[in-house]
Formats: sequence, structure tokens, C-alpha cells
Amino acid sequence: MTKNLIVFGTRPEAIKMAPLVKEFLKNENFETKVCVTAQHREMLDQVLDFFEIIPDFDLNLMQPNQNLYTLTATIIENMKPVLEEYKPDFVYVHGDTTTSMAVGIAAFYSGAKICHVEAGLRTFDRQYPFPEEFNRQLTGKIADYHFSPTTLSEKNLLAENTQKKNILVTGNTVIDALLYGIEKVNAENFNDSEIEELKKILDFQKKIILVTGHRRENHGEGLVNICNALKTIAKQNTDTQIIYPVHLNPNVLGPVHKLLSGIDNVLLAEPLAYPAFIWLMEKSYLIITDSGGIQEEAPSLGKPVLVTRDTTERPEAVEEGTVILVGTHSEKIIDHATKLLKDSEYYNSMSMLHNPYGDGKATKRIVNFINNL
Ligand code: UD1
Ligand code: UDP
Repeated sequence: MTKNLIVFGTRPEAIKMAPLVKEFLKNENFETKVCVTAQHREMLDQVLDFFEIIPDFDLNLMQPNQNLYTLTATIIENMKPVLEEYKPDFVYVHGDTTTSMAVGIAAFYSGAKICHVEAGLRTFDRQYPFPEEFNRQLTGKIADYHFSPTTLSEKNLLAENTQKKNILVTGNTVIDALLYGIEKVNAENFNDSEIEELKKILDFQKKIILVTGHRRENHGEGLVNICNALKTIAKQNTDTQIIYPVHLNPNVLGPVHKLLSGIDNVLLAEPLAYPAFIWLMEKSYLIITDSGGIQEEAPSLGKPVLVTRDTTERPEAVEEGTVILVGTHSEKIIDHATKLLKDSEYYNSMSMLHNPYGDGKATKRIVNFINNL
């Protein structure tokens, strides 16, 4: 039987790989095991819990305020016994994290075929986002098969001389996860303590602005600018409520709490588990984020997004007009947020319900492709 090993380590990878794990586990032609590097710990476990995935291998590698050198080296080293014990035919990695890149290298050494999910996203600037653009370019070089979310990402791979027969445009598995998640959250018997807590503390008479942020290149000055902009937006618009589930990276957590604590209509929370987060996205008026995954999810829910970055490897929604790049310039963030809060015509033009990133069938396409090799 063909042996699969699906490997991930961080929150977004887990969300985007969970539907693939479930789809492969249903298929009798494959034996499928899951390995987590646990580059993230608590934020990964929240996802495993919701999708009811119990990893077969857990490397448990996260260290407080970890650095890229040690993380990369320990992932490669710790993958060796897993790959030698299980001997997978196919190893699946996702996107652009240090886990994806380092597991890709280890899988190459093992002789397994490497499948890259969410392949071909590019800014073509190796320094931005750092280190993700480098990670995804390197993983693209190592991979045997490339599952691209859009035709644009396929085009990027073709421009790098990747063979067309080894690329499949699938849509992004983030939409498969979102559709599964929304259905579960909206089911009558679904009960979630975080959602109940949010219902108690949020004032739904006010417009909710949902904020997240974690990108390494925004640490320091960029994050200070974003927080100052949020402070101004909150003070100038008392009919809004900002909720910011803060990423656990100490380079984010410390500064955000220092700059935004104690403002009446700014609520700082711990990272929300995926069901509560997608529930909150649905309830939000506007999202301000530097997250890749949230940029992809928001168009399905018809929510305008201000992205606190200067470039994006996900230009499709920018072109469709549902996402605006505002960088980390305080004035630009304030101006666009204010316009969206005050100008309903402008708001409506950005809140169309169309998603260029997928139709929820990406994982089925990936499994069919591998099945037919
Ligand atoms: C990582 C990825 C980034 C991805 C992001 C998603 C790399 C280099 N970075 O960035 O591409 O977009 O995840 O969120 O792969 N921490 C905890 N608990 C957790 C998670 C993180 O305490 O559950 C803290 C730890 O102190 C950890 C630190 O955050 O050392 C940084 O984690 P790391 O994965 O290195 O970086 P992220 O900023 O999370
Ligand atoms: N998310 C979550 N809880 C939160 C914030 C985000 O479950 O408090 C989900 C979100 O729905 C999306 C993913 O996490 O699917 C995005 O992860 P993140 O922003 O950490 O990483 P990125 O997408 O930027 O790599």
C-alpha cells in the first residue's frame, strides 16, 4: 500500500492540512500518518483538537522565542528517525514555514517523493516576507509535485521551469477547512465555550474590527505603527469595537499589550481556537491583518481586509478589490479604516462574496492526482 506522511508544525499549516489528512484517511489505497514538528505548541494543539487529529509522530520542538538556525537544524535532525522508521513513499509539506522547508530537505534525503501543498506563491523578493519567500522558493525546488491554489501560482512555477505535468491547480485547502469549520460551528448541537464567552464580552451594537498580526518583518517599528493606528481608530470611532487575539510570539505579545492595554473599545485576547475565530470573522465588519490565511478566508465571508504589508504573494483578492495593502503606515491604515466605517458605498464595493482562492474541493483533487500516478 502507498504510504503517506503528512507533516506540519504551525497553526496555519495545521488548518490547511487538516482536510487533506481527513480525505486521505478515508481512502483505502493509502496508509496515511501525521507528523507534527510542533514548531507551534498551543496554537497547533487548538487546531488538532478541533479537527480531531491525533498525530502519529509529535516532535514537540517549540522553544520559547526560538530562532531560525536551531529550529531548522532540529527539525531536520528529528525527522530522520521518523522517516527511517515509517519509510513513506510520499511526504506532504505545506506553504512557506521553517517546518515546510526543513521537512522538505529531510524528506529529500530519505528518498521520498515530496508533495508541496500551496505551491507557487511568490513575491519574488527573497527578503519579503522573511523568511517565508525563501522557504517557499526552496521547498518548490525540492518538491516533486506542486499543488497550486490558483492559475497565477501555477504560472509562477512555470516561470521557474517547473514541469507542467507535475503541477496541479487545486484551489487552496484553506477553503476546504473553512467550509468544514463553518458548517460545524453553525450546527445546532455545536457548543463552544470560547464563542459563549465572546458573546458575553462583545457589544454587537458596535461595528467589530478584527485584528491579527505576527509577521517577522513587522516586528518593532511596523508593529508600533499598527498599534498607534488602532489606538486612533478606536478613539475616533466610539461606535466600533476592536478585538485583537494576540499571537503568542513574545515579539508581538509584549509590544501589543504595552501599546493597546487599557483602551475602552480595544479588547486584547489570547489566540482563539479556529471555531471561535471563524465565528468572529463572520460577525466582524472589517478585518485588519498581516496573515496569509485570513486574507484567503475573508472573501468567502464577504469581509473587507486591510493588509498591513507592502506586498503580497496573494494578489488575487487585491485585484478583485476585496483586499487593500496598507503597509504599516499609520495614516494609511487610519484613512482606509475610517473610509470603510463611514462610506457604505465604498464598504459594499469591498465586501463581495466571491473567493478567488478556491471552491472547497482542493483536497479531493490532490488525492485523485496522487491516486492516479
Ligand atoms: C511562524 C512561521 C510563519 C507563520 C506563522 C503563523 C516561520 C519562520 N514562521 O511564525 O511563517 O506565518 O508561524 O502563525 O516558520 N509561540 C508560543 N506558542 C505557540 C506558538 C508560538 O508560545 O503555540 C511563541 C514561542 O515563543 C515561539 C515563538 O512564538 O518560539 C515564535 O514561533 P515561530 O513559529 O518561530 O514564529 P511565528 O512568528 O509563530
Ligand atoms: N486563526 C485562528 N485563531 C486566531 C487567529 C487566526 O484560528 O486567533 C486562524 C485563521 O482563521 C487562519 C489561520 O489561523 O486560518 C492564520 O494563521 P496565522 O495568521 O497565524 O498565519 P499565516 O496565515 O499568516 O501564515
